[in-house]
Amino acid sequence: MVVSVDREGPVAIVTVDNPPVNALSQAVRLGLRKAAHELTPEAGVEAVLLLCAGRTFIAGADITEFGSDRVEPPLGTVVDDIAAAPVPWVAMLHGTALGGGLEVALGCHWRLALASARVGLPEVALGIIPGAGGTQRLPRVTDAKTAVEIVTTGKPVGAEDAHRKGIIDRIVEGDLRSAGLAFCAEIAGQPQRRMSPDPMPDPMPDLGLDWAAIWDGVAARAKGQISPLRALEAVRGAYQLPLADGLKHERAIIMPLFSDPQSLALRHAFFAERAVAKPAAIAGAKARPLSRIAVVGGGLMGCGIAVSALGAGLPVTLIERDAAAAEAARERVGGLIEAALSRGLIDDATASARRAALSTTEEYAAAAGADLAIEAVFEDPDVKAEVFGQLAAAMGDAAILASNTSYIDPRSFTGHVPNPARILGLHFFSPAHIMKLVEVVRTPDTAPDVLATGFALAKSMGKTGVLCGICDGFIGNRVLAAYGRLALYMLEDGALPADIDGAMKAFGWPMGYFEMMDMAGHQIGYARRQRLAPQRDPAIRYSRLADLVVESGREGQRTGAGWYAYPEGRRPVPDPEIAALIEAESARLGITRREIPADEITERLLAVMANEGAMILEEGVAARPLDIDVVEMLGYGYPRWRGGPMQAADQAGLGAVLASMEVVAAESPGSWTVSPQLRKLAETGGSFRELNA
Ligand code: CAA
Repeated sequence: MVVSVDREGPVAIVTVDNPPVNALSQAVRLGLRKAAHELTPEAGVEAVLLLCAGRTFIAGADITEFGSDRVEPPLGTVVDDIAAAPVPWVAMLHGTALGGGLEVALGCHWRLALASARVGLPEVALGIIPGAGGTQRLPRVTDAKTAVEIVTTGKPVGAEDAHRKGIIDRIVEGDLRSAGLAFCAEIAGQPQRRMSPDPMPDPMPDLGLDWAAIWDGVAARAKGQISPLRALEAVRGAYQLPLADGLKHERAIIMPLFSDPQSLALRHAFFAERAVAKPAAIAGAKARPLSRIAVVGGGLMGCGIAVSALGAGLPVTLIERDAAAAEAARERVGGLIEAALSRGLIDDATASARRAALSTTEEYAAAAGADLAIEAVFEDPDVKAEVFGQLAAAMGDAAILASNTSYIDPRSFTGHVPNPARILGLHFFSPAHIMKLVEVVRTPDTAPDVLATGFALAKSMGKTGVLCGICDGFIGNRVLAAYGRLALYMLEDGALPADIDGAMKAFGWPMGYFEMMDMAGHQIGYARRQRLAPQRDPAIRYSRLADLVVESGREGQRTGAGWYAYPEGRRPVPDPEIAALIEAESARLGITRREIPADEITERLLAVMANEGAMILEEGVAARPLDIDVVEMLGYGYPRWRGGPMQAADQAGLGAVLASMEVVAAESPGSWTVSPQLRKLAETGGSFRELNA
């Protein structure tokens, strides 16, 4: 029974037990509705305690049911039934009361919570809005600013905060059942509370909020995503309509969103982010316990990794080449911990514990006590080979050795290291203490338990690991290289950086390709291109533009100039010098420049990314399209409401994507391979989605 009822005198205890997160499946909704109808004074019931078994209160609607026809009864009517019950319902919250879970709690007449609980309405993150009264009942228990914030951002708030804001009536400790029973005894005999504040103004008074300014703020943050704006419309209804009409208004807004492409993409993103953690390659493998890790290299990347490991509760030995560099690394890590402290992300005690768990040294021998080491030194195979030799000597044959290389095949610098089964890539993204993605790179020799340990480490750091085979740039940088190459071709053909970046931002990217390059700095890419120049395939069109930019002394935002000028610091401003440089290069190549419309830019970028992704699948570097989607979303800011490049290609239609790719390929003969996989799927009416299964 997912919903059971037992009695403690006049109190009926309704328990939801639907693992793993007590989602509101059809069976749960039916059970709650039955309870709302049957638990009456006539049945000897004076109060109802709503409890959840397991790790959390109800974490929301059952997302797997969206789009199916298992809708009866709609959650909204269940919540309405609870709200209209003749006896008080007291919701006892622990874990996360999210979405439909919070809506059920808002339908209850009282909400009590453990201090560790969190509440929120994350529906906008799934491309929908709260549809079971959340946008109407939340404004009736809290202030308008809080209601707008919770509904439009989807971000959960802690119970203490929610208590201060009127969403939770009381914070309780200890066993929820006992605390709930004591509370029921306290309210026994009181008149039924309909809603807080009681009596409730209906409709809520217009609070004179500047709705136009709120709208602009939400639209700016949403970057093309529609659900936050729809949610705002619904919540505004709470201040204009009586409750019954506001509920109808809310339902009218949510219904079309269920089948909206943005919602489909966001639901894909939700499940893809969970599916990546369970690749077939580690099925049945057990992660090894880690008691200490070593990080080699105290640059930005190494320190970011160290901070993430310290945050996961792991002591870290950070190794640098000499005492001065080790000291500088200690200061850099200290600075990152300090920044987290000053932003209120951690408290003093946590900051001190993290500082104490770090040791910095120039002695590789200190790595002996670690179970796993991550090398994050300069991207040069010889330097890395030296580091691996030292680590293997210090740590013995069993310890796991990982490389943070972003391009190079780890086998090329670990050939001399005994026991290749314990070697893998753990490719973090910069800044590593913030970015949520780790590519877990598997060589043909890596053992499954070593891979599983890589995934577990990423998870303990609050990051998502994605399994990846070996190719130049692995999944993320390889796809980036393809669209970067096309972006440069388009500059030569007629676009300017702001045209391409503008089109990408209109598509939903937080920043464009050229802005991103300027932010990252050009030197590393330039050095890499110089190094690889002798091996470059002359048949492939090579754009010199990025090299010319660096050679003209523009190395990115930090130097005040790159693809853009930066007269005010970080805001990119189109620069006539860059336009002249690009136009001169087009003229030198004999290209008659043409205006490239924004939709053509986005179609082509989408096509090359999906095409590169399809080749990555053919080569077995990624196991499923969803792995590529997650890498692009978490590592590069691919708009989540587009679901990643493979999902976006499915939604655009693979026929259209193939057609764009063929035009791109025909315009630069020999430069692109049109993926046979993409062609086959497009020609047979298939989709990438079906390869995710
Ligand atoms: N529906 C269906 N399955 C869900 C689910 C949901 N609402 N929430 C989580 N799950 C599943 C996950 O897919 C995962 O399944 P697998 O183990 O098979 O991968 C499992 O439950 C555990 O989830 P997590 O791995 O995410 O566990 P966690 O402890 O890290 O996080 C959580 C727990 C915070 C509840 C997180 O799962 C979460 O944020 N869930 C989504 C919450 C949400 O968005 N709720 C709103 C739903 S929409 C709604 O409610 C609208 C409406 O009224 C119409």
